Amino acid sequence: MCPPVFVYAVLAAYLCGQLVPTTCSLVLNYRPIIGILAQENRDNDLHAQGSSYIAASYVKYIEGAGARVVPIRINQTTEQYVKIFRSINGLLLPGGDVDLQKSEFSRAAKIFYDLAIKANDASDYFPVWGTCQGLQQLTVLTSNKNLLTLTNTKAVALPLSFTQGAQNSRLFKNVPKDLLQSLAVENITSNFHSWSLSLQNYSRNAKLKRFYKVLTTNSDGRKEFVSTMEAYRYPFYAVQWHPEKSPFEWIDKPGMIHSVSAIRASFYTSSFFVHEAMKSQHRFPSPSEEKEALIYNYSPVFCGLDSIFIQNYYFD
Ligand SMILES: *[C@@H]1O[C@H](CO)[C@@H](O)[C@H](O)[C@H]1NC(C)=O
Ligand SMILES: *[C@@H]1O[C@H](CO)[C@@H](O)[C@H](O)[C@H]1NC(C)=O
Ligand SMILES: *[C@@H]1O[C@H](CO)[C@@H](O)[C@H](O)[C@H]1NC(C)=O
Repeated sequence: MCPPVFVYAVLAAYLCGQLVPTTCSLVLNYRPIIGILAQENRDNDLHAQGSSYIAASYVKYIEGAGARVVPIRINQTTEQYVKIFRSINGLLLPGGDVDLQKSEFSRAAKIFYDLAIKANDASDYFPVWGTCQGLQQLTVLTSNKNLLTLTNTKAVALPLSFTQGAQNSRLFKNVPKDLLQSLAVENITSNFHSWSLSLQNYSRNAKLKRFYKVLTTNSDGRKEFVSTMEAYRYPFYAVQWHPEKSPFEWIDKPGMIHSVSAIRASFYTSSFFVHEAMKSQHRFPSPSEEKEALIYNYSPVFCGLDSIFIQNYYFD
């Protein structure tokens, strides 16, 4: 599948003392490309130029960790999505406010989710990251149900409550001690959501419980909800909070945190995810197809200092 790196893979396998010559994934791909899924515009978006968007903060979040971005537009055919899937090294499902079962965002998310499951089952490493709505969408895809409940978490910064399982999780096992401490005691994770997966509904749903390990929880004072999770058997990760906001969004609102530790936490998560994407060897069939797909073909629009997203990319 990847002849140029095969020799290195065998060498790496030998050096690692592994007998399985399975994988190209021992050789990191230092030119990773992450697909970010667009979604239907927000109802009240006065700056909209086109009918779907990606908030630029997610693009910067990925670029700042050493990857390039391909926008994945909604309303494409399954064949077009399959082609993109084979060309990118990871998928980011961003925050937003579309219907998790009826939107074009949810349709595309399901196509990519199914492709990612199939690929990983066949040892073709493909990571998925969900933020806020992205986490919620992943719970709907895994359980085939919307199990979310309303919480009072619209604009609040919270410290994470780490579970026992977080210690040996892939996402947190290498987090520096002082950053872990900051995440655990400082109010540095931005929450901007009305819906949450309560711990109760997570625990009562066998599919979710079997699939995801809960790494952190939070509470709105009444309901405890899942705030960070990772899949047991797949490189799938999700946060209900917004690591991309601290460095890249500037609306002046409660819950927005720009402290040094908040920004370190943001970079820790993006760097982790991009490292995961480096284990994927997918690539575009040709340089010209790569060039046409990259986000550099679009320009972000400045939406104003009081906009929830300071800049958006719009697509027709
Ligand atoms: C997607 O297609 C539907 C009709 O199938 C249309 O109403 C909608 O405007 C399209 N959205 C985008 C972003 O192209
Ligand atoms: C559990 O999920 C149902 C939807 O199936 C929802 O109506 C209910 O509010 C949820 N309960 C809690 C405690 O999360
Ligand atoms: C800080 O987090 C606590 C929960 O541990 C929460 O009750 C409080 O509202 C948060 N404070 C701010 C200013 O966000």
